[in-house]
Amino acid sequence: MASYTEDELKKKIRGGYILESPEEMTPGYRRALIVQLTVQADTELMSAPAYWFAARHAPSTNTQVSAHAIIQDELAHANIAYRLLEDLGVSKEHLVYGREPHEFKHPYGFDQPLDNWAELVVANGFFDRAGICLLGDVHRNTSYGPLKRALVKVDMEETFHLRHGEVWMRRLARAGGAATELLQRCVDWMFPMTIEWFGLPDDLKHHSGQLDYKLKGLTNDELRQVWMSSTVPLCEGLGLSVPAHYDEKADEYVLEYPFPCEYDPDAKRWLFDDGEITWQAVFERWKGRGPMNKIYVDSVRRSRGSVASWLN
Ligand SMILES: [Fe+2]
Ligand SMILES: [Fe+2]
Repeated sequence: MASYTEDELKKKIRGGYILESPEEMTPGYRRALIVQLTVQADTELMSAPAYWFAARHAPSTNTQVSAHAIIQDELAHANIAYRLLEDLGVSKEHLVYGREPHEFKHPYGFDQPLDNWAELVVANGFFDRAGICLLGDVHRNTSYGPLKRALVKVDMEETFHLRHGEVWMRRLARAGGAATELLQRCVDWMFPMTIEWFGLPDDLKHHSGQLDYKLKGLTNDELRQVWMSSTVPLCEGLGLSVPAHYDEKADEYVLEYPFPCEYDPDAKRWLFDDGEITWQAVFERWKGRGPMNKIYVDSVRRSRGSVASWLN
């Protein structure tokens, strides 16, 4: 364990110090890094079954193979983050196989069913873009050297996932008729889902240490703005309506609905008309997990059990 105090380490990091091994970490740094990597690993892992279920609706062999290439990338990204956790003394075996489904730390968005090809490609356009915003920021700013280097590969592959989403969103938007209606329906539930994904607004956020230790560079609200600054123009350019716009006077994107608000997962609908709810209520919804939580967790680990159980 390092011989300096938490404050001394923070000062070193502000001066540009990069940590290369667990021996250099203070307990506070190690704890904050474990939280960050666990969310990252679980999010990558759970995106795989979410996309895999949706990929069954691919319109052709070649398009399904493209979707499967993305899923393969996500599993590799998960492995990278779990592997880094192992360096910190956390058991990958326990993280993947030893936890209850509700103990995984991925966002609520990856507890939702993706029921058709349009939902898969909007997930690529929205969720993978959120991943790029979050991990791109970590890549640029992290004080942990092994993570910085690992994210080079992740970043390039996420860009492919995002392009897949954008190309297909454009194609569906141009098709008109039922395809465009379906695309709009996806945007209606997945836009607010991604906005919520970035978490508590800065004025309510507890001090997490991730910024002090330079495990990330941007705040939740800044990341939400970065995401909207590319998502809103994309959707507007495709003739899709989104519940947000750029406010010139404020020089930022503003939401046009009560935030946060309640979500009906069965209807895949946000209850804008019921008004704003507390973040406490949001945390309770997240903690209760969404409809696919157990199914997704089971789907990545059932091949471990008896053969009979997964042949059925
Ligand atoms: Fe990924
Ligand atoms: Fe991805």
